[in-house]
Amino acid sequence: MAENTSGRGQRELKVKVKTARGRKLSSTRWLERQLNDPYVHRARADGYRGRAAYKLIELDDRFRFLRPGVRVVDLGCAPGGWLQVAVARVNADGAKAGKPVGRVLGVDLQEVAALAGAEAHVLDFMADGADDAVRDWLNGRADVVLSDMAAASSGHRNTDHLRIVALCEAAADFAFDVLEEGGTFVAKVLQGGAEATLQARLKKAFDRVINVKPPASRSDSAEKYVVATGFRGRADTAD
Ligand SMILES: C[S@@+](CC[C@H](N)C(=O)[O-])C[C@H]1O[C@@H](n2cnc3c(N)ncnc32)[C@H](O)[C@@H]1O
Repeated sequence: MAENTSGRGQRELKVKVKTARGRKLSSTRWLERQLNDPYVHRARADGYRGRAAYKLIELDDRFRFLRPGVRVVDLGCAPGGWLQVAVARVNADGAKAGKPVGRVLGVDLQEVAALAGAEAHVLDFMADGADDAVRDWLNGRADVVLSDMAAASSGHRNTDHLRIVALCEAAADFAFDVLEEGGTFVAKVLQGGAEATLQARLKKAFDRVINVKPPASRSDSAEKYVVATGFRGRADTAD
């Protein structure tokens, strides 16, 4: 698999998909978008499990939180694009001889196909004791907690927004429980009004909190990513 640098894909494709009997208009639109998305083509060519891999590549190219030797927890890791990027960058597979070897541990509600250098567990991260389980598996704390989680779409914009903010709040609580002091938390959120409490909590718990939309994030989607660095420790996480 080629480690890729950031930037938009090169190909300008314009594939029109005809509506077919039995296919919904929304499915036709999805198919058309996939066929015309340069990141989808790049992911296939580079051997990534999904175009989402480029979002993490772009975030890490900018903020440099994935260094050899770092311990990473990826919440909602299926199908494993972020795991692939994290394994290569923290040297969890030992491919960079002479560099420190990191750890990459992912959890998801779904099974993830095996990936050298990563360990993936089927786990609802919101279940009781999930943070203890992850600390046990890691034999300690993590340096980076990632969350690219999305709640199943209800089709209702406000409901979806509230759901993803709730997921992100829970992911932040999880990060407070498993992060090492000085650690980094990266999470997908949706642009909109309901996230002010989350941002305030993160600002209290971390030295620096930045909201970004990486180029690989589709411009027509409301998603953005929060990158919080310099975790101050559990004492600063109370509401
Ligand atoms: C957009 S996908 C992640 C894609 C991943 N970053 C990649 O590069 O392959 C979001 C994932 O979050 C998972 N998820 C949602 N809620 C979860 C929960 N409570 N616990 C664990 N995983 C969850 C879903 O099962 C889904 O696989």
